[in-house]
Amino acid sequence: MTKTAPVCVFDSGMGGLTVTHAIKRLMPNEPIVYFGDTAHLPYGDKSKETLVRYCLEIVDEFLSRGAKAIVVACNSATSNAWDEIVERVGDKAMVFNVIDPVVNKVAYELHSKIGLIATQATVNSRFYNKKLRKLNKHIKLSSLATPLLVPIIEEGLAKSDICKITLEHYLRHKNLQGIDALILGCTHYPIIYDSINNFYNGKVKIIDSPTIVAHDILYQLKKNNLYNDTGEITEDLFFVSDYTKHFESMAKKFFGRKIQLKQLSLS
Ligand code: DGL
Repeated sequence: MTKTAPVCVFDSGMGGLTVTHAIKRLMPNEPIVYFGDTAHLPYGDKSKETLVRYCLEIVDEFLSRGAKAIVVACNSATSNAWDEIVERVGDKAMVFNVIDPVVNKVAYELHSKIGLIATQATVNSRFYNKKLRKLNKHIKLSSLATPLLVPIIEEGLAKSDICKITLEHYLRHKNLQGIDALILGCTHYPIIYDSINNFYNGKVKIIDSPTIVAHDILYQLKKNNLYNDTGEITEDLFFVSDYTKHFESMAKKFFGRKIQLKQLSLS
């Protein structure tokens, strides 16, 4: 592993670009290789076995590219395939997910009842519940699967009435009543952060992973002497397993500027 080796990030689609954007803002010199598994999007309705298979193929590709760090920028992948990913990576690269840094943060903040919105795959895994319970037994976590949000966001409808109505339907659900904080347990959801915040009128703290995760990566890279302070800058690469013009225009929305997507088939 060298300081100039890439930080490789993946998600089912464009959601992981919210995390990549936060990484680049904090560490502009880190070379990024991004992979959006658009051929298999969404991950949120897949079984554990299928998600493990997809994730290990991507991890193998990243290792063959000499990754110094692999970031699983997807809650559904993390909560179903984390142990298998860690085992496959071994000591060949550092490995990060989008759940542990968030859980570590909320476990020590003063919230008594926390809500979680996420995909079906994430909610069913109970990954957040298990991780939180280990750190703080007094926090009550109440989860709700919100499966319509990813397709709505990937369709470019984040600002539409359909999104507003769907969001209100979910946020009014009994599972989310009386919460004092809400975890956005999907890397697509930062795109609708403002709508969620408006719904709660600032009365519920919204916990969003990209910035928290980026700070954790920065800290760990520095600690392991892998932070790219060499002054050497390499071009970032953005791949998808299925290229369409639509994904490219969505990528711009998620990343905040135009990026060129290249097709990369893994199997
Ligand atoms: N963005 C992903 C997550 O954090 C996956 C969404 C999906 O593909 O269903 O869970």
